[in-house]
Amino acid sequence: MDTKADIFYRELPKVELHAHLNGSVSFKTMEKLISRKPHLNIEHSMTAIRSGQQRTLEECFQVFKVVHQLVNTEEDILMVAKDVINEFAEDGVKYLELRSTPREETKTGLTKRRYIETVLEAIRQCQNEGVDIDVRFLVAVDRRNGSDVAMETVKLAEEFMLSTDGLVVGLDLSGDPTVGHGRDLLPALHRAKSSGLKLALHLSEKLFQVPSQLEESELLLSLPPDRIGHGTFLHPNMGGAQRLVDQVVKHNIPLELCLTSNIKGQTVSCYSKHHFQYWYQLGHPSVICTDDKGVFCTDLSQEYQLAASTFGLSHEDVWKLSVQAVDCTFAPDHVKHRLKRRWEDFKPHVLR
Ligand code: IMP
Ligand code: ZN
Repeated sequence: MDTKADIFYRELPKVELHAHLNGSVSFKTMEKLISRKPHLNIEHSMTAIRSGQQRTLEECFQVFKVVHQLVNTEEDILMVAKDVINEFAEDGVKYLELRSTPREETKTGLTKRRYIETVLEAIRQCQNEGVDIDVRFLVAVDRRNGSDVAMETVKLAEEFMLSTDGLVVGLDLSGDPTVGHGRDLLPALHRAKSSGLKLALHLSEKLFQVPSQLEESELLLSLPPDRIGHGTFLHPNMGGAQRLVDQVVKHNIPLELCLTSNIKGQTVSCYSKHHFQYWYQLGHPSVICTDDKGVFCTDLSQEYQLAASTFGLSHEDVWKLSVQAVDCTFAPDHVKHRLKRRWEDFKPHVLR
């Protein structure tokens, strides 16, 4: 991590709703992975984007490919998931929705089913070890893999949603936004929604091929999703359209906003121009998240502090943002109530 956030932000109880497992691997865990696979000749500079560095979004996707080479066995996934969960807990995250794309690896015999089971095993082990964090899982669809894989992934996610007593709560749509078109994935997304999976969709993340992108955003918004990842180019000042904003507002769809990820991935030019400002001023539910804390060398406390210092938020404002994030989780109501009570217990200690 580049700098450490002030104590208020570290003590603030936090909700993390947008964290990709393989993008969240810390320096420490990366060292263990690299030493397990020295023959790959992978160095840290290939898996993390440090302070002051930027990459294009395309280059970020190359970074994920490198991480995937390092994480290709059940043993790796178990270690990575447990480390990531523990690190979020150490950062004061009390509720985490982790997401990951199930992968099969012919070389190691890893299957998509075992991939998901291993992540769930990591969550259960952390629970049994008393780690102070409630973790749920979103099964991710990588848009580059097309409609058949998307449908197959939805079916797997449905199965796990029904068999894991609330651990699997939803579906994520992610991957390189310039590859494929959302229209091809609509049948899978509709099926997921009607089966009860919540939808967290990366949407309007990058500006390119404007007409088809607006069309895709409109189509995906018509589902409507339960949360939006990034939504960077939805609003008219950023090349989007008022009708898209109107849809988001009408359905009250929360946004997952990841400041450092957008700056380092060069979809937003600087912190002060981040679209957090636009949505926050509208009073629209906006949740600060990390996206890929390992790749972008950040943590959630730091992201809250960056939002506060950039947009002049008081501790009271930041507290409200953190409480509001509880309402945006995919957890059932009784869990939200339990979390809200915990936040009340923390309040006098944190907001002193
Ligand atoms: P994994 O799903 O746990 O393997 O996490 C890495 C994957 O998450 C990448 O290969 C992408 O598909 C996805 N991902 C991570 N960050 C982003 C992002 O900013 N935009 C779109 N997809 C992303
Ligand atoms: Zn993301």
